[in-house]
Amino acid sequence: MNSQISAIGVYAPSTIIPNDWFADKIETNNEWIISRTGIKERRFSEPDEFTSDLCIKAVKNLLAENPGINLDGVDFIVVGTTSADQVMPSMATRIQNYFNLPNTGCIDIMAACAGFVYGLVLAKGLIAAGTHKKVLVLGAEALSKFTDFTDRTSCILFGDGAGVALVEPSDKSKIFNCVTGSDGAYGKDLYLSQHASVVNNEEIVANGKIHQNGKVVFKWAVRTMSQKINELLAINHLTLEQLDWVILHSANLRIIEAVASEIGAPLDKMLTSIEFFGNTSSASIPLAWDIATKSGKIKPGNKILLLGFGGGLTYAGVVVEA
Ligand code: UT7
Repeated sequence: MNSQISAIGVYAPSTIIPNDWFADKIETNNEWIISRTGIKERRFSEPDEFTSDLCIKAVKNLLAENPGINLDGVDFIVVGTTSADQVMPSMATRIQNYFNLPNTGCIDIMAACAGFVYGLVLAKGLIAAGTHKKVLVLGAEALSKFTDFTDRTSCILFGDGAGVALVEPSDKSKIFNCVTGSDGAYGKDLYLSQHASVVNNEEIVANGKIHQNGKVVFKWAVRTMSQKINELLAINHLTLEQLDWVILHSANLRIIEAVASEIGAPLDKMLTSIEFFGNTSSASIPLAWDIATKSGKIKPGNKILLLGFGGGLTYAGVVVEA
């Protein structure tokens, strides 16, 4: 059974945090943040607004903006997140309960910034297996709740947001071949700790906040994502020219520029959400998709390469048709 993305919805909290917000809290400035990351502003959720709230609002927006779409028959929900309200119950069951969807399988997956694409890969597999017919795939984060605002190398990066895709069977295949992979040796280079204070037998800071070795992750991301884009093109029998768009996880505009240069893609083929939302982890790819759809860039029939990467380190990529 073939599958397609029938609709996309997103939500970002209303509070805009410009770069200058950090100026009296840490030693930084607007020019450094823009030139080193591409970020102009990001959104922070309210103190009583959590990842499940962002998920529900993204699904509501999907319904409001796609009048032909409803949730009748949704039989599986998968949420990619590393910033859940709580580990249990899952964010997926919160959505199931809010929209009163009976007989719906629910899981959250922890694949960091690759979570949304991992969700698409799972949804494609469930539909191909014939076991499920209507899958909601979300990437949603309230990273501001887990940000160490004393660490100037990471706190300026993160933002909050959510995105959802409805995946359904289709006559023609519109979710094509994928790649997934990981390199757990880099576990301590990007982590959000809980109880344990070791990763791979190495000490980490167990304070419930996000920690990142930015330089190491940056280099890994440019090298690995460039390879993976070429691999995705090869397994889908596509040339770069036949692709309309590339949506790489919006971690840093300089990573996206370096990958574009490495694979020989014009920068305007790369769709991003980093400028206005910062690094929203698993939400960054649907947010970029939404911006590009609303600005008239993405059109039905366009071929788009999606590639998420992040903590683990882990990655997942897929080519889809809009
Ligand atoms: O989403 C998951 C995946 N994550 C990523 O892919 C993130 C990858 N890494 C990055 O995006 C970048 O490495 C950062 C944005 C985190 C840092 O950028 P960078 O160009 O690698 O900066 P750097 O760590 O090499 O630091 C350069 C300088 C340092 O000063 P010195 O040692 O040269 O005197 C830093 O202390 O910039 C300094 N610096 C800052 N200055 C002003 C670091 N953070 C700041 C800051 N404001 N916020």
